[in-house]
Amino acid sequence: MKFFIDSANVEAIRKAHERGMVDGVTTNPSLVAKEGRDFRTVVDEIASFVKGPISLEVVSEDAEGMLKEARELNSWIDNAAIKVPMTWEGLRAVKICADEGIQTNVTLVFSPNQALLAAKAGATFVSPFIGRLDDVGQVGMEVIEGTAQIYANYGFETEIIVASIRHPIHVYEAALIGADIATIPPNVLDKMVHHPLTDVGIKRFLDDWKKVPKK
Ligand code: E4P
Repeated sequence: MKFFIDSANVEAIRKAHERGMVDGVTTNPSLVAKEGRDFRTVVDEIASFVKGPISLEVVSEDAEGMLKEARELNSWIDNAAIKVPMTWEGLRAVKICADEGIQTNVTLVFSPNQALLAAKAGATFVSPFIGRLDDVGQVGMEVIEGTAQIYANYGFETEIIVASIRHPIHVYEAALIGADIATIPPNVLDKMVHHPLTDVGIKRFLDDWKKVPKK
């Protein structure tokens, strides 16, 4: 299972990278806006140490505009994956990007049928947003299950990125399903390493070690 980091915070991504947990990065306009920094500068900094796919999102709503942005963003770094919204215009742009050898990540996906369309268009990645579905009372992980089944049925090569992850259970459930990738916010990655019994166990071993006679 690959871990992408869902963030535009360079220091948080670097920390996860130094821990050996970064196979790629996903950004979106909201995450970039949160940093209050120039987009290109942020992307160059991330690309200086992340060699896996870095998702960069277009903001145009028509295919021509998306394509113009996609070509530009793709020229910035060697490992861009262009994030395109799940609309007919987006799917048109994805198809052309695929023909031009530009990696794409179809975003704002909320149903297996949308994921099927993304695969048909030739998307490199598809990003179902499970947390946002959970937020409105729909079980987000069922979209991952359905998408994984459909892709397996027909041998689609589009990789599933489990997105909009809110807590460690989402990562666990995604792993049980066998999702290709989880894009994990830095705070969720931090939570995954902790268990109270690990902390208690370390303390007990260290306390007991002090009681071992030393020559
Ligand atoms: C990832 O590609 C998405 O941009 C991200 O996971 C969205 O997460 P959110 O629903 O927490 O904004």
